[in-house]
Amino acid sequence: TNFRINGRDYLVPMCVEEASVVAAASNAAKMIRAGGGFAAHSDPPWMIAQVQLVREGARRSAVDVLAVVREHEHELLALADAAHPRLVARGGGARAIEARVLADDMTVVHVLVDCQDAMGANLLNTVAEQVAVRLAALTGWNPGLRILSNLADRRRAHVACRVPAAALAGKGFTGPEVVARIVAASRFAELDPYRAATHNKGIMNGVDPVVIATGNDWRGVEAGAHAYAARSGSYGPLAVWRSDADGALVGRLELPMAVGTVGGTLRVHPGARLSLRILGIENAGELGMVIASVGLASNLAALRALATEGIQRGHMSLHARSVAVAAGARGELVDRVAAELASLGDVSAARAAEILSRLQQS
Ligand code: MEV
Repeated sequence: TNFRINGRDYLVPMCVEEASVVAAASNAAKMIRAGGGFAAHSDPPWMIAQVQLVREGARRSAVDVLAVVREHEHELLALADAAHPRLVARGGGARAIEARVLADDMTVVHVLVDCQDAMGANLLNTVAEQVAVRLAALTGWNPGLRILSNLADRRRAHVACRVPAAALAGKGFTGPEVVARIVAASRFAELDPYRAATHNKGIMNGVDPVVIATGNDWRGVEAGAHAYAARSGSYGPLAVWRSDADGALVGRLELPMAVGTVGGTLRVHPGARLSLRILGIENAGELGMVIASVGLASNLAALRALATEGIQRGHMSLHARSVAVAAGARGELVDRVAAELASLGDVSAARAAEILSRLQQS
């Protein structure tokens, strides 16, 4: 709940085993809403199909291969388009060819394809396989792997937010204190890959549940996110936080976003289709903006808790409800058992059973 993105309200379906993730994202989205909500945009839906070429005794050098690929760019693009006439009819299709030397005996050719609203894995793999045959004939090199790249760095979602300091106050801290502590937490992640991994896990806490609920490939999105986080050669945070001249907290996140709103699972999975209806979104780019916004909200929720009282208190009070239900509590007894467990600081099954039996007897 509480997500306002580019001035529009969204109710966001999430599919995740941990209730506190949903509560935390909704809570942070409310603070972000106090500053006007999220401002987001998406890159065009370009995905990368890779063809590995291996020399294996061929006459041409690796540099010659690049030249041949350049000379035949138009032909290769037309060949890629011929594999998917329906995609071309919908306004998508092959957009560019790029080639790189990886070693004296290995090159790679990228075909960049505009997938429109599809995630595009099947489209890309067909393109890679078809283009590979022609590349082999043109270069004399042998095609190796022909598959999409999950480092979808041409198809990113970008989101930013600005939260007034007052909206962050609480848990015994003033707004400016919370801002300063979150900025320091961001710096920690920027300086230390060990922290950056956990920082990014907190972002993916929000990203994955929406990717899953909408029937998309969360392993692909995870792979892309972490590879993108390491693009400089050292692993870093996907989102960073700063304070602005007015003392507000400003957060920014960008990450590859290979998700679709047509094709794949969506055709057959009623739950995924329902999720898209709940969201009321128009296209894959818009879905990417929503997903990135939930990631940024989840990051803010985690950093605010960590930078103030720590995460265990909030986490345990939600966990206490699950423990109460597991012990057999129903109806209003769930809240009463959970509240007592949390106030005792002992969220164990044995304690829940004891409290429940006492309440039932009284
Ligand atoms: C736990 O699921 C996520 C956190 O570890 C994220 C973070 O440390 O920023 C709380």
